[in-house]
Amino acid sequence: MAIILANNWFAFSTDSETNMAKRLGKRSTAEQVSQGADLGGKNALVTGANTGLGKETTRVLALCGANVTMACRDQVKAEKAREDILLGASGAIDESQLSLLELDLNSLDKTQQAAEEYCQRGEELHLLINNAGIMIPMERRTVDGFEAHLGINHLAHFLFTNLLLEPLTAAEGARVIALSSLAMSFASLKHGLKDINWENRKFSGWPAYGNSKLMNHLFARELSKRYEANGIVAHAVHPGVVSTELARDQNGLFSMIGVLATPFMKNVEQGAATQVLAAISPEYGDSGGLYFKDCRVAKPQHKLANDGALAEELWQRSVELVGLEE
Ligand SMILES: NC(=O)c1ccc[n+]([C@@H]2O[C@H](COP(=O)([O-])OP(=O)(O)OC[C@H]3O[C@@H](n4cnc5c(N)ncnc54)[C@H](OP(=O)(O)O)[C@@H]3O)[C@@H](O)[C@H]2O)c1
Repeated sequence: MAIILANNWFAFSTDSETNMAKRLGKRSTAEQVSQGADLGGKNALVTGANTGLGKETTRVLALCGANVTMACRDQVKAEKAREDILLGASGAIDESQLSLLELDLNSLDKTQQAAEEYCQRGEELHLLINNAGIMIPMERRTVDGFEAHLGINHLAHFLFTNLLLEPLTAAEGARVIALSSLAMSFASLKHGLKDINWENRKFSGWPAYGNSKLMNHLFARELSKRYEANGIVAHAVHPGVVSTELARDQNGLFSMIGVLATPFMKNVEQGAATQVLAAISPEYGDSGGLYFKDCRVAKPQHKLANDGALAEELWQRSVELVGLEE
């Protein structure tokens, strides 16, 4: 097997690569982070690209010249987002740069279909941004019977990424970004992954969301460990507390607190900065498993986040749960 040493396809026309992160921080925007980046001819795929952080990430990667696949469950919303981005870019993004892919992470079959459809294009995939996610207070199950945070935020992205390994490997230096969160601090996950699917205890929204965000980080870590030799580097990101539609299903009190807190939150332009940085900065292309916050490498907010044995255990369990043949 060929050993691919680094993500060496990133080109920055200005800026010293090594000093780039030093000037950036909590209020930096995704456009600032990507200043001088040339992603011309590179292919990116963003899940949940029709709104919030995914839409802004799509816009900024495309402004840098990338061809971006917007992988969304609702094609009407996806087309509208695509039009918004093109209109707002006033010609700086060519129509051909933005394509749509139907991806419903609520179903493993549909997730597999989406991955197969992408693979049929026969193109390399340089950047995969596993961005889509839910944060809900009530118990909900996916069509495959998984607790929804587990199923959508982790398992479907796990399957999707694994089914895209061929185009990722073909990129010879691909990066995968997992949208994690400081909410991993609410996780109840432990070694043994006991009752990972919430079948034997009363459901609770925050630990369920927290578990899925801890899993996102553990997944990125393990993916890097397994596939760095194929040139695939994966990182996890906490984008900040960002004003998006993420809390749409939360109760009235939560929404009221959200409204009051809005002035202190990041806007989407700032919120998307950390994932764009982790995806394209040449500094972070050689080895993966890092966790980013406010445009810097940070310590993840859970004691098990860097537990290699748990990451390995989660990988094995996920393989079984999604029925993946490795
Ligand atoms: N906002 C924050 O403060 C914050 C903080 C930490 C981490 N994050 C993470 O950042 C990521 C993006 O969130 P956001 O804040 O931008 O939220 P958002 O505005 O609600 O966007 C979420 C995206 O995920 C998509 N999605 C949800 N369920 C899906 C499914 N079954 N199949 C395919 N796509 C699905 C949504 O599509 P629809 O529009 O069709 O529902 C939407 O495009 C999430 O993973 C979230 O956990 C956000």
